[in-house]
Amino acid sequence: MRFLDEISVSGKRVLMRVDYNVPLKGDVIVDDNRIKQSLPTLQLALDQGASLVLCSHLGRPKGEPVPEFSLKPVAKHLSTLLGREVLMAPDCIGPEVLAMAQSLESGQVLLLENLRFHAGETKNDPDFSQALAALAEVYVNDAFGASHRAHASVVGVTEFMDVCCGGLLLKKEWQYLGQALKDPARPFVAIIGGAKVSSKLGILRALMDKVDSMIVGGAMANTFRKAQGFEVGTSLVEDDLLEDAMNIMVEARQKGVKFYLPVDFILGDNPKGGIASGVRTYQDIPAGEMILDTGPASHTLFSEVIRDAQTVIWNGPLGAFENPAFAQGSINLCRVVAAISGLTILGGGDTNVIVEQLKLADKFSFISTGGGSFLEFLEGKELPAFVALEKKS
Ligand code: 3PG
Repeated sequence: MRFLDEISVSGKRVLMRVDYNVPLKGDVIVDDNRIKQSLPTLQLALDQGASLVLCSHLGRPKGEPVPEFSLKPVAKHLSTLLGREVLMAPDCIGPEVLAMAQSLESGQVLLLENLRFHAGETKNDPDFSQALAALAEVYVNDAFGASHRAHASVVGVTEFMDVCCGGLLLKKEWQYLGQALKDPARPFVAIIGGAKVSSKLGILRALMDKVDSMIVGGAMANTFRKAQGFEVGTSLVEDDLLEDAMNIMVEARQKGVKFYLPVDFILGDNPKGGIASGVRTYQDIPAGEMILDTGPASHTLFSEVIRDAQTVIWNGPLGAFENPAFAQGSINLCRVVAAISGLTILGGGDTNVIVEQLKLADKFSFISTGGGSFLEFLEGKELPAFVALEKKS
C-alpha cells in the first residue's frame, strides 16, 4: 500500500475520505478525537499546496438527507482546529458541489455533506463513485474507522481515480495493529469486554493463536460463567452461545493460553439503576439480581495478569460503565493498563470514552480510531479499503 508521505500532491485537488462519524449532542461534538487524529494528514497535504475536498459519513441515515446527521457542526469545529476556513458543501455530489470543488485554490478546504444522504454510498454504486471521483485529481483514504465497509467512498471511488493512497492515520493504524499481530513483545495480554459474545467471537478466536493470556469481562463474561454452570441471575446472557463460550475456554486450555474471567461482580437491579446492591463472588450470584460490573477481587486478579505484560490489546468495558455506579471495574482496568510500560493498544468506541473521561489518553501507546474496523483487522479479515488501495499501488 502507498501512503501520502510517499507521493507529492503539490498543487493538486485531493479527495480525502475521513471518518468524521463523531458523537453529537445537538450540534455539539462530544468527542472530537477522530477529527483531531486526521489533522496531520490534512496538514501534510495543505503544506504541499494541495486543496482538499473532505468527505465522510455521519450516523446511519438511510440514503436521504436527515438534518441531525448533517456534517455542518464538524465543518465549524474543524475550522477552529485547523485555524483556517472550512467551506461546507450543500451535498456531496452534483453540479453545485463540482463547481465548488473546481474553484478551490491551493490551501482551501471544502467539506462535503454526509455521504450517506445518498443510497449510492453504502451500495458502492459505480455512478455515485464516479461522481465523487470527478471532484478531484488524487484520492486519499484516511478513514480507518470506515475501512471495513465496502462503500463507494472507500472502495468504488478508487476505480475512477488514477492516483490513490492511504493517509497518515491509516498508516499509523496499519503499523500499530499490524505490529501487535505479527511480532508482539511478550507476555501478550488481550482484554476483551463489552456486552455481546456474538460480536466478539471472531476476535476471541483469532487472538487465541497470538496471545499468552486473555481476560474476558463485561456482560460477555456472564455467558462464559453460565456455560460453566454458574447462576447468573437476571444478567445479560446469550444462551445460544453457551457452547461457543465453552469451546473457547477448551481451546484456550489446549493452546496453553491463560484464560481469565471476573471472579466477583457488582450487582444491581438494572444498568440504569442508581445504586449497586452489593458484591458477590461468581459462585454466589442470587437468582433475582443482575451482574453489572466486576468487583475488587477481579481487579486484583486482572492487575496481576497485566502487570508484566509487554503488549496489551484492550477492547470493551468491564461493566455498564455509562452509569457511575457500575463504572469502577472499567476505570480500575484503565488505570492499570495505562501504568504499564509495554505496548498498549486500545480500540472500540466505548473503550476510548473511558480513557477520555479519565484523561489518560497520552498514557497509551496507541488508541485506534476504529470500532468495527479495529475488531475486523485484529480478526485477520481483509479490510475492503486496504484491498482497494493495494490494487492501486
Ligand atoms: C464507526 O463509527 O465505527 C465507523 O464510523 C463506521 O460506522 P458504521 O458502523 O455506521 O459503518
